[in-house]
Amino acid sequence: MKAIASAPGKVILVGEHFVVEGVPAIAAALNLRTRVTAFTIQENIIRVYSKDLRLKEIFREGHIKKDSPLYPIFVAANLAREHAGIDHGLELNIESELPLSAGMGSSAAVSVATAAAVIALKKNLEKEVVSSIAYEAEKIVHKKPSGIDNTISTYGGAILYSKNKGFEKIEINLKDAALVLADTGIPRNTGVMVEKVRKLKARYGAILDLIYASAEALVYEASKAIEVGDVKALGELMNINHGLLSAIGVSIGKLEELIYTARQAGAVGAKITGAGGGGLIVALCYKKDVEKVENALSRVAQRVYVTAISKKGVALEHKN
Ligand code: MEV
Repeated sequence: MKAIASAPGKVILVGEHFVVEGVPAIAAALNLRTRVTAFTIQENIIRVYSKDLRLKEIFREGHIKKDSPLYPIFVAANLAREHAGIDHGLELNIESELPLSAGMGSSAAVSVATAAAVIALKKNLEKEVVSSIAYEAEKIVHKKPSGIDNTISTYGGAILYSKNKGFEKIEINLKDAALVLADTGIPRNTGVMVEKVRKLKARYGAILDLIYASAEALVYEASKAIEVGDVKALGELMNINHGLLSAIGVSIGKLEELIYTARQAGAVGAKITGAGGGGLIVALCYKKDVEKVENALSRVAQRVYVTAISKKGVALEHKN
């Protein structure tokens, strides 16, 4: 038996860092996907092959390598196998359009697609089950994940997330818009950046409280802009959001260079996405301007991804 499932990566459009203190953030699924092919095999093992990592691992009862980068995938596959009542071994092949460790949710997309492909070997897909299995795998990768990545990868579209209120779907009406992501090539360390912001907030609490309140107001405005399809307003709000991220100390010269390059080439908005200190920027463009923005960024970024928000979440692509 064979099943193929795919799941999207994500981008944080607004609200990163502020979300740690309870402000909402908006994440959106991308049309860049991870694809997992699952086969049942006779031997009672789980064999995982990742094309991108050029890594193959065999997980056998009594010999589970917990330090393998493929261990979270085994965890997702094994939970899905138990849920579906499959008593065969499994082989999993993983292929991805998403860069690894870039903040684009590649680990969650792999776990979501893995859980879906394995469940589909025997049962119908239930998105809630897929997302909660992927969350278990994400706990291994990110220790205390918010659940944004597995949720957005399972359901697709855009979501408003806050620590207190959880997830809320946002209707997307951004037909004319595209996203261009550009990588500084400088590795980011989320833990270090979150700690840096915490220290600044401890020192300048009264000042930063105002910045956090501003961030909260802009996230709600951005949510409305997405629903009514106001690309210009969303871009302006992303620019304001970037200013606030700079103010809390998570930008660096290279990120600013990419952001100003994108804006000068015609992006309506450009900002850090994710933790900052390196990593990626996201630029919002009208489709007609994408090529100009892509070309300009290609000259100064390590990698550029032209993409768009996608309503498609996890999907079963093939089964026999
Ligand atoms: C990192 O992708 C997003 C941060 O807000 C950290 C977090 O929410 O855990 C910087």
